[in-house]
Amino acid sequence: MRKVTAIAPANIAFIKYWGRKDEKLRLPANNSLAMNLSNVFTITTVEFLENLKQDQIKMAGEKLDDKSKKRIVDHLERIRNLANIKVHARVVTKNNFPKGTGIASSASGFAALTLAASKSAGLNLSEKELSIIARQGSGSACRSIPDGFTEWIAGNSSETSFAHSIFPANWWKICDITVLISKTSKKVSSSEGHDLAESSPFYPVRIADMENKVSEIKIAIKGKNFEKFGEILEEEAINMHAVMMTSRPAILYWLPKTLELILLIREWRSNNLPIFFTIDAGPSVHLICEKENEMKVTQMLSKSGFKDFIVNNPSSGAKLVDDNLF
Ligand code: DP6
Repeated sequence: MRKVTAIAPANIAFIKYWGRKDEKLRLPANNSLAMNLSNVFTITTVEFLENLKQDQIKMAGEKLDDKSKKRIVDHLERIRNLANIKVHARVVTKNNFPKGTGIASSASGFAALTLAASKSAGLNLSEKELSIIARQGSGSACRSIPDGFTEWIAGNSSETSFAHSIFPANWWKICDITVLISKTSKKVSSSEGHDLAESSPFYPVRIADMENKVSEIKIAIKGKNFEKFGEILEEEAINMHAVMMTSRPAILYWLPKTLELILLIREWRSNNLPIFFTIDAGPSVHLICEKENEMKVTQMLSKSGFKDFIVNNPSSGAKLVDDNLF
């Protein structure tokens, strides 16, 4: 057993995971499709040590609440069981984005933890196995293991539910400009939201169309058809939020600034700027454009008063690095 450090990107889903068929195993209701992000990531160092009485978990610059700590300990337990060891671990983790930016860290966090902890425990897992384990910590984390553009196959058991790369990071020069709308953390976590999805009367309608949507967007990405891709992307984000807004109780992630930006994007588009948006379980808006339009978009954003944003290119997935955090 040795000290190991891993880095993993966050990812943005083009076709979303919202609702699941198995809560405990985190088996999603449908396949989802995402792109790893180059400038939003987590670095995690893990070392299993004989003399520890319990797992020691620290997040740089942030105080972890008991619920988050328990989720990490549960994940270490999965890895201990696989490696057939009983030793506790020291874990130090760090996000490159500051606390309270409204960016979720569970995908990058559980992907980095899975790679670092499994290596540190002496396991040599395949990409597929890593994705399966990461998924159990946080569903979307399974998509932060493989490179570039990824598809998470929903599967019908733990062994058949994992993500794989469908195109490498350099396949398509598009970027994700994440516009931060609020610094306060959301009131309903995605884990709670997934459980409410089924209570929306629109949920069955949404699920019935997912297979079709996944295959259509894959064709658009393959053919680098940005207009078609963008149309599906936006329709999908609004569709998921319609389910959220009509759950019982209703979840409203959008803030006034979210809608203000959506309307601006539509206006820019009608003035011939090819730009589309997607939104996850929070108020932040992800603007997706072709790389050649990045400067134009960031200038328009600044001019309109949206000054807090992060520009991301497609990125590789989780990997090991040499610099340890302790
Ligand atoms: C809206 O992966 O955060 O971002 O499995 O409970 O950790 P848990 O949920 P999580 O859900 C992500 C929801 C989403 C859509 C997506 O990323 O596909």
